[in-house]
This record gives sequence, structure tokens and C-alpha cells, in this order.
Amino acid sequence: MATAAFSFVLIFSVFTVASAICHPDDEQALLSFKSGITADPSAILSSWKPATDCCTWNGISCQAPNNRVNSISLYGQLDKSNSYLSGTISSSLSKLRFLDGIYFVNTRKLSGPFPGVLFHLPNLQFVYIENNTLSGPLPENLGNLTKLNALSLEGNRFSGSIPSSISKLTGLSQLKLGGNQFTGTVPDGIRRLKSLSLLALERNKLTGSIPDFFTSLPNLRIVRLSYNKFSGNIPASISSLAPQLAYLELGHNSLTGKIPDFLGNFRALDTLDLSWNGFSGTVPKSFGNLTKIFNLDLSHNKLTDPFPVMNVKGIESLDLSYNSFHLKQIPKWVSSSPIIYSLKLAKCGIQMKLDDWNPSETYFYDYIDLSENEITGSPVKLLNRTDYLVGFWASGNQLKFNLESLKFPATLKTLDLSRNLVYGKVPKGVTGLKSLNVSHNRLCGTLPPTKFPATSFVENACLCGPPLAPCKV
Ligand SMILES: *[C@@H]1O[C@H](CO)[C@@H](O)[C@H](O)[C@H]1NC(C)=O
Ligand SMILES: *[C@@H]1O[C@H](CO)[C@@H](O)[C@H](O)[C@H]1NC(C)=O
Ligand SMILES: *[C@@H]1O[C@H](CO)[C@@H](O)[C@H](O)[C@H]1NC(C)=O
Ligand SMILES: *[C@@H]1O[C@H](CO)[C@@H](O)[C@H](O)[C@H]1NC(C)=O
Ligand SMILES: *[C@@H]1O[C@H](CO)[C@@H](O)[C@H](O)[C@H]1NC(C)=O
Repeated sequence: MATAAFSFVLIFSVFTVASAICHPDDEQALLSFKSGITADPSAILSSWKPATDCCTWNGISCQAPNNRVNSISLYGQLDKSNSYLSGTISSSLSKLRFLDGIYFVNTRKLSGPFPGVLFHLPNLQFVYIENNTLSGPLPENLGNLTKLNALSLEGNRFSGSIPSSISKLTGLSQLKLGGNQFTGTVPDGIRRLKSLSLLALERNKLTGSIPDFFTSLPNLRIVRLSYNKFSGNIPASISSLAPQLAYLELGHNSLTGKIPDFLGNFRALDTLDLSWNGFSGTVPKSFGNLTKIFNLDLSHNKLTDPFPVMNVKGIESLDLSYNSFHLKQIPKWVSSSPIIYSLKLAKCGIQMKLDDWNPSETYFYDYIDLSENEITGSPVKLLNRTDYLVGFWASGNQLKFNLESLKFPATLKTLDLSRNLVYGKVPKGVTGLKSLNVSHNRLCGTLPPTKFPATSFVENACLCGPPLAPCKV
């Protein structure tokens, strides 16, 4: 009897909590937001119906004790082209007095200017408006959003300079403004954001030097500044991040000078991308201490020999292409990696017979680029072992083998063997590729029907048939 009474109380109280419906202001705010959405082809907002509990709607969460809406999380699916929301971000959201998080991620077509409503949400801490089409400048008073813990406007079309008032957002642990059209320099005031662990400004049009402010940012773990127009040297203060920095991405800028020795002290470094800059001199010997590095991209610089001996056990992805290296061999620490999936050593002065290369693991390989070296022999054995290879580039070598003996992994999309000594016929197996180049070789015979242009096949011994000249009968 007592147990039954107890259960009754329990059930009753669960019932009261579940039945507490959302606050009318919250419901109205969200329905007004919905009416600002002009297209929702994948029905992200289909559960948002008047007179139903808005706390149960897709993407909405409410918080005790008063059951007010505290976050909106609307996610589009990147792999589905019809997964988006068109429209603007309604100012009605200001009625959500208890909102602390806004997540509009991959909704792709939310447009309009910077949503001023953010200034009217006193509890807002987390803003992730990523992969949408918001545009125009950021407001000068952005710094009023002093409660923010994370601000991401990544992947929109914002332009103009990054407002200097950003220095007032001292609670930020993440600042992500990548993939917009920001111009001007990085505000020095970012040095006041002492809690930053992630600074991502990549894929913009930022200029000037990278500020020497890193001693002030002791918690940074991820720095992404690639694809901008930064010039000057790697600032010395980055050395203070040595204990914890995991990602340093400075690729595709106009940085110059030497790679500083101190980078070798970054024991936690997982990813280092210095590609497509104007770095010169040698790679510091201290790189031998980067034992945890998984991704190293130094390609497209002016770096010279000797390349240091590395002590990394499992490199995953390496690109040293297009410098002035003469490595002679594929380094042992590369061939012995049990987890490598991408190896790019184009124009690295490698002189070897490809048949002699015996990497300890080939299972994970997706990409191999050995273009513009002095490599002889045949890739037949290698491609027989790389079952999941997606791209193989080896143009500008002296590979000499019968193309008909090459096994095409089912995953292979790109094959470039141009400017070698390849002979035999072009096999039907090439038809499944997305791109092929076997020009400038010694191939002969009728081409199988393909969609590749003539430049994929020109300058061979006696290839014929479309897209080349018809075969003589
Ligand atoms: C934004 O889109 C890009 C490109 O489609 C994608 O690589 C990235 O992961 C997306 N961002 C998020 C947060 O999903
Ligand atoms: C921003 O803050 C300033 C002073 O702190 C204040 O005068 C101004 O009204 C605020 N602007 C907005 C949009 O909240
Ligand atoms: C690696 O680090 C140790 C300890 O900090 C140091 O003594 C050594 O010189 C470093 N090695 C290189 C190649 O810089
Ligand atoms: C390709 O691999 C198979 C089985 O793994 C093996 O029997 C064959 O000899 C290999 N062929 C070449 C050319 O290495
Ligand atoms: C094939 O390679 C040659 C020489 O490397 C180049 O000139 C040509 O444009 C390439 N064609 C295609 C389709 O990639």
C-alpha cells in the first residue's frame, strides 16, 4: 500500500515536469524565427508547431528550474544538398531571455547581416553560426558581447576588418572567424583574450605580420592562420606555446625567413603546416624532437638540405614537395610508419628503383605523390599492395613498365604517369578514373573509350583512336 502511494507520487511528479510546457514568450520567439525562414527543404523545423511544447521541438533545449529555452541547435547535413535553411535570423529571438547558446551549423543559406539580436541576449555564451551566408561587416561594438565563451562565424561571407573592440571579449576560449572575407590586420587586442584555446582566422584576406602576442595567450592549443596574406617571420613569442600547442597552421601565406629552431620543442605538436610560403634555409635539427607529429606539410617553400633525422614513430601525412631537397631515398621514418595515409615527396631529389621500396604498411595509403624525381622501375608491386589508394602521381620520372600489368585499386581516382617510359597498351581499367595522364610515354595501340582529353594521351609511341587521331587500318 505504502509502495503504491509512493509510486503514485513519483509518477505524478514526473508527469508534472514533463507536462510543464514552454514559456509563451519562448514559443512566440521561436515561431517568429520560423516565419523568417523561407525554405526548409529537409524539414529541420517540421516539429515547430504552435500549441505544442516548444521544449520538445527539434534543436531546442530548455533548462530547469523554470523550463526556459536555453539553446537552439540547428544542424544541416553537409552530405545532403537539400539540407539547409534559407532566410534571416529574426530579431524576435531577443525574447529568449535565458538563451545561452546559438548553434546554426551547416544550415548554409541563413543570410543577412550580423544578427544584432545577439546584443539583446544577456545570457548568451556560445555562438556558432557556421557555414551560412551571412555577410557585411562585423559591428564595431562587437566587444559588447562580453559574456561570450565561444564565437564562431566560420564559413560565412563577412567582410571588412575585425573590430578592435574584440579585445573586450575576455571570456572567449574559442574565436573562429575562418572562411570569410576579412581584410586588414589581426587586431593586437586579441592578446587580451587570455583564455583562448583556439584561434582560427584561416581562409580570409588578412594582411600584415602575425602579431607577436603569443606570450599573452598561454592556453592556445590550436592556431589556424592558413590561406591569408600574412607576411614577415614566424613571431618569436609562439615559442611560449611549446608545452601545449597541438595545431599550428600557417600555410598559404607570404611568410619568409628561417623556420625557427624552437618549433622542435613543441612536444605536443600534432599538425604543422607551413606550406606555400617563402621559408628558406634548412629545417632545424630540433625537428628530431617532434616525436608526436602526425601531419607535417612543408611543401612549396625554398627549404634546402640537409633534412633532419626525425624520430617520429607514426607519421600520418607528410608533404615535403617542391623545395630544394635532395633526399635521395624515401626516409626510413616514413617507410616504417604503421599509420601513414598520405605521402607527398614531389621534386625531392629521390633516386631509387620503385620496386625496391618496401614500406612496412600500405593498407592506409590514400595518396602517394612521387612526381619530378629520378625514380626508375615499376609501381606494379606497390599498387598491388595499396588496396585503398585514391591518388597516385609519378610524372616526370623514368618509370619503365607495361601499363597493362598495373592493378588499379577499386578506390583509385587520379593517376598521373606522364613523362615517363611507360609502354604497352592503355587498359580498359582506366575508365573508372576521374583523372588520368599518361602523356609523354611509349604507349601504343587503340585507346579504350574514355572521357579524358587528348592531352592525357599525347606524345606516345603510337596511341590512336579518340580523342587522338583515328587508328590506321
Ligand atoms: C563547413 O563546410 C566545410 C566545407 O563544406 C566543411 O569542411 C566543414 O567541416 C564545415 N564545418 C562544420 C562545422 O561542419
Ligand atoms: C555597447 O556598449 C556601450 C557601452 O558599454 C553602450 O553605450 C552601447 O549602447 C552598447 N551597444 C549595444 C548595441 O548594446
Ligand atoms: C631534443 O631535446 C633535448 C632535451 O630538451 C635536447 O637536449 C636536444 O638537444 C634536442 N635535440 C635536438 C636535435 O634539438
Ligand atoms: C599481387 O598480390 C597478389 C596477392 O597479394 C600476389 O599473389 C601477386 O603475386 C602480386 N603481384 C605482383 C605483381 O606483385
Ligand atoms: C598531362 O601532363 C602533361 C605534361 O605533364 C601536361 O602538359 C598536360 O596538361 C596534362 N594533361 C592533363 C589532362 O592533365
